[in-house]
Amino acid sequence: MGTHCLRLRALRCVSARGLPAQPQCKPRVVLGIETSCDDTGAAVVDETGKILGEALYSQKEIHLKAGGIIPPVAQRLHKEHIERVVQEAVDNSGVSPCELTAVATTVKPGLALSLGVGLEYSLKLIEQYKKPFIPIHHMEAHALIIRMLHLVEFPFLVLLVSGGHSLLAVARGVSDFLLLGQTLDEAPGDTLDKVARRLSLRNHPTCCTMSGGEAIEYLAKIGNRLHVELTQPMSQHLDCDFSFSGLRNQVNQIIIKKEREEGFQEGQILSCVNDIAAAVQHTVAAHLAKRTHRAILFCKKEGLLPQPKPALVVSGGVASNEYIRKALRIVTEANGFSLRCPPPKLCTDNGIMIAWNGIERLRAGIDVLHNSKAIRYEPKAPFGINFSEQVKKAALRVPYLKLKI
Ligand code: KG4
Ligand code: ZN
Repeated sequence: MGTHCLRLRALRCVSARGLPAQPQCKPRVVLGIETSCDDTGAAVVDETGKILGEALYSQKEIHLKAGGIIPPVAQRLHKEHIERVVQEAVDNSGVSPCELTAVATTVKPGLALSLGVGLEYSLKLIEQYKKPFIPIHHMEAHALIIRMLHLVEFPFLVLLVSGGHSLLAVARGVSDFLLLGQTLDEAPGDTLDKVARRLSLRNHPTCCTMSGGEAIEYLAKIGNRLHVELTQPMSQHLDCDFSFSGLRNQVNQIIIKKEREEGFQEGQILSCVNDIAAAVQHTVAAHLAKRTHRAILFCKKEGLLPQPKPALVVSGGVASNEYIRKALRIVTEANGFSLRCPPPKLCTDNGIMIAWNGIERLRAGIDVLHNSKAIRYEPKAPFGINFSEQVKKAALRVPYLKLKI
């Protein structure tokens, strides 16, 4: 770290009452670091699930102004903020770096330039404080954060929807997932971000600082989805895969037509923007609900989940969306599943989920590395054992379910 050397306050190891600490009685504590995309996050979490300290720097507004994430810009911003963010999380926690049990950091998947900043910083930190290192898969962290908040036992069904992913999987253990389906093209968050950009929402007086997904949710509340006709993606495919790029093309065609009709000028906001937002949000929600419904039927048929009361966990940035949650609740209630979603703050990227994933791995004894020489980041990384061929073969038909939201 040289001049960037982390000057974490080295607190003396004393308990709150000033007595020497009893290390064997203390819960284990992990520092988590997240830099896989455009959020610099850090948190200190103990093994009881208590968040001792946290900090987050979001690059969202800068990327919104630029019209999308430019990786070298994301890298520069991570470099500028990582020291302060980690320092703040550790300071707030009141835990001295020497008291940390381990450091956990996202190493896959994500933007290479962004992942590199978190990894390089973490490796220097563990070298300085002689701590074990726990490499984290970003999507595993999204999947497991619910277990910090609620008692959700393995196995459970999980839908992960973010700016980079759309995954349906059975979580059988901390690092053991059965992948039932994934997106064939783009992720739902990416689609919502692109639609928002195409609608020039950065010029909208209320939505200009919101992410695309948040802006679409906000506008959809005052729109009428029935005014814009969109067709469901992949309705003929009896599997659990997703596709959103066709939907985006449909929306683009509609926008071009409306722009012509309204004598549109570059950067203007269309008068029907709320209706478009409502229709897009509904189509995304219905697509996610349909594939999740099929995954539930598949799990029932194959006996993959416990009875009674199996759980569906929904996480990732797009899972913050209330409308999508309601659509999924209709599906879970019709099938005797409980629905578990982290609060929005823990659905979008953060350091807490990385620290908690570190705790989960520590408890399970998975990948707690004392020699981190061979650690590399991986921009692309598979998630779990691919079971989508078996899902396709089962070709399950999903009964009609009215999504009255
Ligand atoms: O998980 P996340 O923070 O980062 C990735 O790992 O990608 O997800 C970010 C994505 C963005 O595409 C953003 O537009 C979307 O989550 N998002 C939402 C909402 N809030 C954030 N999508 C729909 N509704 C929301 N309320
Ligand atoms: Zn994420």
